[in-house]
Amino acid sequence: MKAIVQDRYGEAEVLRLEDVPMPTIGDGDVLVRVRAAGLERGVWHLMAGRPYAVRLAFGLSSPKVRIRGVDFAGTVEAVGKLVTRFQVGDEVFGAARGAFAEFVVAKESQIVTRPEAVSVEEAAALAVSGCTALQALRRSGVKAGQKVLVIGASGGSGAMAVQLAVAMGMVVTGVCSGSKAEFVRGLGAERVIDYRHEGCETWGRGYDAILDLAGSRPLSVLRRMLKEDGTIVIIGAENGGDWIGSFTRGLTGLAMGPFWRQKVVSLLAVVGGEDLSEVAKRVCGENWRRVVGHRYALADAVKAVQDMQDGLLTGKAVIVVRG
Ligand SMILES: NC(=O)c1ccc[n+]([C@@H]2O[C@H](COP(=O)([O-])OP(=O)(O)OC[C@H]3O[C@@H](n4cnc5c(N)ncnc54)[C@H](OP(=O)(O)O)[C@@H]3O)[C@@H](O)[C@H]2O)c1
Repeated sequence: MKAIVQDRYGEAEVLRLEDVPMPTIGDGDVLVRVRAAGLERGVWHLMAGRPYAVRLAFGLSSPKVRIRGVDFAGTVEAVGKLVTRFQVGDEVFGAARGAFAEFVVAKESQIVTRPEAVSVEEAAALAVSGCTALQALRRSGVKAGQKVLVIGASGGSGAMAVQLAVAMGMVVTGVCSGSKAEFVRGLGAERVIDYRHEGCETWGRGYDAILDLAGSRPLSVLRRMLKEDGTIVIIGAENGGDWIGSFTRGLTGLAMGPFWRQKVVSLLAVVGGEDLSEVAKRVCGENWRRVVGHRYALADAVKAVQDMQDGLLTGKAVIVVRG
């Protein structure tokens, strides 16, 4: 089969399209013929091996899994003998290592049935960003009627967070660059802030929760915008440092926990299980807006990663493997 592979960490040029052997499945696995694969920041982190902490889990000197990509949607091609929920021909979506390929092997718990109302491309973009957004909102403790600030609202996880929060009845302020403000407004954000032109001092006060997906602003700055009993959820950022990325602030939050009334939580999203089913249900909601704005062929996956790195994407991008 064809797949996007890499043998060393580096910039987008380490990725290439190659013929690789078909994967084999274990008893609890499902083999999926990939129709589309979602692009998300994790692809870049595994490609680059940065922050360096990712190498502890994914390979010290080179990636243990050569094929990139995590999110996908496709058709079940074969099932292991312990698999009970799926059969050949089922349309599914989910997450597994090696999704930028014609076939991927997933654990049964990492996939769910694709609802008919959700297109293959939209489904391919859901698993990581959807579970991340859902878990971030849950950890924030924010409730209907309360105010939430989403920093990085035009990106993959941010766009999901805005929509989920709006659907749950929260009042959302989104932060992104001005050229993408209309997109974020369309997702239901009440106010959109252009971080390139508006300083944090004008972003407002009294937020019940801040979901921080970008920018690595100091906790002191974020805490000033937060209610006394509010919560900051640190999800990620691309400028958080080479070793542990944006989680330095999470560690500070942990250390200061006993002294602050405001909570600082670091999120490490778990993709799959009940939350994936919940995401599937939510995206079938009446007012759900589609977030996929960019499509690439498998052979153009390198360009897709480069475009993500250059900030050219709005919402999600997918690699269309088999239409
Ligand atoms: N903790 C976890 O488990 C987990 C899970 C998923 C993702 N993440 C991390 O979360 C982060 C966001 O992921 P994503 O997939 O949503 O990324 P993405 O699609 O690339 O979106 C990034 C967003 O950040 C905005 N942004 C960039 N620089 C900014 C700045 N200085 N101030 C404010 N906003 C800024 C972008 O706005 P414009 O493009 O409009 O400029 C865009 O809305 C990444 O670092 C990713 O690695 C963590």
